[in-house]
Amino acid sequence: MRQHAPQIEIAGNATAVAERAAARVVARLRDRHAVTLGFATGATMRPVYARLVAATRGGDVSFRAVSSFNLDEYVGVAPQSPGSFHAYMQEHLFGHVDMEAGRARIPDGMAGDIAAEAARYEALIAAAGGIDLLLLGIGANGHVGFNEPGSDFESRTREIRLDEATRLANARNFSYPASVPERAITMGIATILEARSILLIATGPEKAAAVAAAIDGPIAPPCPASALRLHDNVHILCDEAAAAALANRPHNNNRRTA
Ligand code: F6R
Repeated sequence: MRQHAPQIEIAGNATAVAERAAARVVARLRDRHAVTLGFATGATMRPVYARLVAATRGGDVSFRAVSSFNLDEYVGVAPQSPGSFHAYMQEHLFGHVDMEAGRARIPDGMAGDIAAEAARYEALIAAAGGIDLLLLGIGANGHVGFNEPGSDFESRTREIRLDEATRLANARNFSYPASVPERAITMGIATILEARSILLIATGPEKAAAVAAAIDGPIAPPCPASALRLHDNVHILCDEAAAAALANRPHNNNRRTA
């Protein structure tokens, strides 16, 4: 597969990253209302969603014609449970914007047959005509979605066992560490790479090694985010802390600092 250089943009801090990320989404929504977005959850996305909610309330933008697909959900966690990604999306975005009910899809982690649910989810994405703009975070271990290190680049939506590091990082959303789910359903790497454009957001020093591995390391399953270099329309937005371990960042024409 051909390699590409992602566009890299570095902003001073997490607030500036969230502002720029939200501005890119708003610009896309203004440009063409009927858009299919892909959403990530997690701490990095919270300030981005807060800005999208504010833009919607301020009348700058509307989600009326938006369809969306979330990347992932825990297996065995009910949508109403506060640790679920369903609850996260409701709390941080869906509950506050004018999106049509039924157009916001999240994998069903309570499905009796997760393989069938994964196939259904892939079919739904295909039926929607694919994802126009997919928002991604990155794990400190280089995961995207919940594609943990070792994930095949041909992988599609499927059940996955979460790394201990990932469970630990997400323990804040559960009452005690042992209750963090061990399994999730996630879009695969191949599913992610089919999005027409991708915006990856990384903030904080704990992401620096993963960002550097994704951009400067080998394109290989030990760093799932490195697969993004096989896509020709990826924009990576980092704060200074997350960009700190990048090699020669200011000198590459594809890379922009501010
Ligand atoms: C969440 C997801 C994950 C997160 C990643 C970063 O839906 O797919 O890949 O984006 O774990 O999480 P935070 O932002 O909490 O560091």
